[in-house]
Amino acid sequence: MKAIRFHEYGGPDVLRFEDDVPEPALAPDAILVAVEAASVNPIDWKVRSGTRQKDFPLRLPAIPGRDVSGVVRAVGSDVGMFAVGDRVIALAKATYAELVAMPAALATRLPEGLDPIDAAALPLAVLTGDQLVRLSAGAQAGQTVLVSGALGSVGRAAVHAAKRLGARVIAGVRGRQVAEAAELGAAGTVALDDEDAIRRLGPIDAVADTVGGDVAARLCASVRPGGRFGYASVLPEGTIERHPDVTVTRVFAQPDPQTLRAFAEDARDGRFAIPVSQRLPLEEAAEAQRRMEAGGAGKIVLLMRPDALATTP
Ligand SMILES: NC(=O)c1ccc[n+]([C@@H]2O[C@H](COP(=O)([O-])OP(=O)(O)OC[C@H]3O[C@@H](n4cnc5c(N)ncnc54)[C@H](OP(=O)(O)O)[C@@H]3O)[C@@H](O)[C@H]2O)c1
Repeated sequence: MKAIRFHEYGGPDVLRFEDDVPEPALAPDAILVAVEAASVNPIDWKVRSGTRQKDFPLRLPAIPGRDVSGVVRAVGSDVGMFAVGDRVIALAKATYAELVAMPAALATRLPEGLDPIDAAALPLAVLTGDQLVRLSAGAQAGQTVLVSGALGSVGRAAVHAAKRLGARVIAGVRGRQVAEAAELGAAGTVALDDEDAIRRLGPIDAVADTVGGDVAARLCASVRPGGRFGYASVLPEGTIERHPDVTVTRVFAQPDPQTLRAFAEDARDGRFAIPVSQRLPLEEAAEAQRRMEAGGAGKIVLLMRPDALATTP
């Protein structure tokens, strides 16, 4: 089958388009999915670079990718919940490929009416945003929850998750993005590069941080004593120790097909979106990762069939 693989860690150039990669085996509890689209996530290039070998040990050569939207091509002997031809989305592994095998229990049906290419943007970002808000930040109805990086993929999902819970959401974005952030429908917006504006917010019940670094360290200081700080990225050393009165918890996204399906339905119904900013053919995965790594690229989706590019906006 066709797939993108890397045989060594390194820059985007280690990604190779190959057309003779062995097809994945189908276990009795698994489905084999013919991939229509797979989105690019920051973890894809972080893993490829080799800097995350401790958290994500891999056997090389490896196929990158976590998100998949596609059509069931075959079902394992124990699978009753899907049939050949069903359209599915899932948080999976090795998705920059023509075919992906995964336990059937990890997949969910694509809601009718949702574009399968737009759906490829959802799995990892949605599940991270949801688990970041509910489990790491422990957000509750009525609380004030600040989501940083709110216009990013995980940030948008976190804003939606917090609104679904009934929290009062403050969207934290770059100063130049404040006007654009109005589209998120949050109760308030704050420029994360304006330290005074952050101080003026007053003590916050919970933060769902998707930016990390110095921004995260500043936001941790704005959480009220007894409040919670959930984060998806990396904190500067000493942040947790400096705030012993705040519960600081990192998210590690786990598959949750039911929640994925609920967010996909909300996307179909226009209540939530992770806009796809660029569509590229699978062959251009290296360029896609290069653009994402440079920042400000938005959500990039890789397409298996070049004719699907004809619909690129
Ligand atoms: N632990 C997990 O399970 C898990 C799962 C998924 C993702 N993650 C991590 O979560 C992070 C976000 O992922 P993502 O997919 O949402 O990426 P993304 O779509 O690129 O979103 C990041 C957002 O943060 C904004 N941003 C970056 N630096 C900022 C700053 N200094 N001030 C204000 N805003 C800033 C970006 O704005 P610009 O576009 O303008 O730069 C962008 O809107 C990544 O570090 C990723 O690795 C963790």
